[in-house]
Amino acid sequence: MPLIQVAVIGGGLVGLSTALCIMESLPHCTVTVISEKFSPNTTGDVAAGCLIPHTYSGTSLHQQIAWFKETFDYLFKIANSSEAGEAGIHLISGWQIFKSPPKETYPFWWQIVLGFRLMNETELAKFPSHTFGQAFTTLKCQASQYLPWMEKRIKSNGGCLESRKVKNVWDLHGTYDVVVNCSGLGSRDLFGDQSIYPVKGQVVEVNAPWIKHFIRDGDGNTYIYPGISGVTLGGTRQKDDWSFFPNVQDSKGILDRCCHLEPSLHGVSIIQEKVGLRPTRSGLRIEKDLLNKNNLQLPVIHNYGHGGGGFSNHWGTAKTATKLLQELIPSVHNVYAKSKL
Ligand SMILES: Cc1cc2nc3c(=O)[nH]c(=O)nc-3n(C[C@H](O)[C@H](O)[C@H](O)COP(=O)(O)OP(=O)(O)OC[C@H]3O[C@@H](n4cnc5c(N)ncnc54)[C@H](O)[C@@H]3O)c2cc1C
Ligand SMILES: *[C@@H]1O[C@H](CO)[C@@H](O)[C@H](O)[C@H]1NC(C)=O
Ligand SMILES: *[C@@H]1O[C@H](CO)[C@@H](O)[C@H](O)[C@H]1NC(C)=O
Ligand SMILES: *[C@@H]1O[C@H](CO)[C@@H](O)[C@H](O)[C@H]1NC(C)=O
Ligand SMILES: *[C@@H]1O[C@H](CO)[C@@H](O)[C@H](O)[C@H]1NC(C)=O
Repeated sequence: MPLIQVAVIGGGLVGLSTALCIMESLPHCTVTVISEKFSPNTTGDVAAGCLIPHTYSGTSLHQQIAWFKETFDYLFKIANSSEAGEAGIHLISGWQIFKSPPKETYPFWWQIVLGFRLMNETELAKFPSHTFGQAFTTLKCQASQYLPWMEKRIKSNGGCLESRKVKNVWDLHGTYDVVVNCSGLGSRDLFGDQSIYPVKGQVVEVNAPWIKHFIRDGDGNTYIYPGISGVTLGGTRQKDDWSFFPNVQDSKGILDRCCHLEPSLHGVSIIQEKVGLRPTRSGLRIEKDLLNKNNLQLPVIHNYGHGGGGFSNHWGTAKTATKLLQELIPSVHNVYAKSKL
């Protein structure tokens, strides 16, 4: 059986995890990741990388539960292995707090994270403006380690990483049998998808090694996530803002809001301010597509639109994309067979 040449467009969190998942499950595929940017210049490099799902409105809850569970279980195993330190995956405990009780006291993912319970009054006494909270243990990925760790594994499995922009997806026809589209916001130009848009997120990384517990306001706007190097303070969510520049007022707002939740952060020293654009869509797009041009065909598998939840779902979505690729293999072989007639 001939090897199937797969091009993955996008070397961010989603592209790398999809490439790795394909290589580990489909030995008949050779994989090349083609990307304009790689770590430390991708969206994931800005993120705190904490596994706390939000809800994708256009995707079934059943599917979201499965993706989160697959991702959590996969990373839990890595965190529990000798790879954890290099991969930058670790357990983290903390609190998600609410000014008023949310509609769902127990969110859809409560049985997937570890030790989920409601906070009691003694704990809530720390937060005078909040009346309700959830305590649990989850996982966190340090992107500055996790992304290079995946790159290394792709290369050691025989995969290639190419630094370049794909201007036209048809340029890949002939060299590759299948294209996997993990281009995030790049999909807008490349595939003409106008339904994907950026949600700008700014974070401030500070030096506060005494913080060991995460605190997240359930409204999603304010969070404190201790990591391997520094504590990530956030955040902002600005729809349709394409700017990569940190805004001074936003940093001040983040620090004020975080100090309000965690007074020990007053006067903390700033390591850096970072901005990322969350590739957002009403629903994630994971599906097969067949491009046609002048009697030529190019099979594509889309995997993009992870928005603010890439870390929470990436391994589950990589597995779904891999399954779609596996389903395509017989037809790709068919094309080979025909071309030999
Ligand atoms: C401030 C912030 C905090 C976050 N916190 C969390 C969190 O705590 N938990 C969580 O789960 N998620 C979080 N996220 C979301 C998470 O970071 C994203 O969902 C994830 O990084 C998206 O990954 P991606 O690979 O789809 O996109 P990207 O990292 O943007 O990757 C897309 C890649 O495609 C490449 N590309 C695009 N077009 C082309 C082309 N034509 N040719 C070649 N290459 C191309 C780009 O160069 C890029 O490398 C956060 C995001 C931000 C901004
Ligand atoms: C990241 O961006 C910087 C600045 O543009 C550049 O010098 C560096 O080579 C980039 N790194 C990678 C891995 O692409
Ligand atoms: C954690 O590691 C121990 C020791 O290797 C192993 O017995 C256990 O099954 C692992 N648990 C998980 C969830 O990976
Ligand atoms: C909350 O939990 C702590 C630790 O389990 C306990 O010491 C404390 O008494 C509890 N407070 C209330 C009000 O139940
Ligand atoms: C790849 O996905 C992007 C969305 O990120 C989309 O705009 C683009 O059309 C897709 N490319 C192809 C070749 O389908």
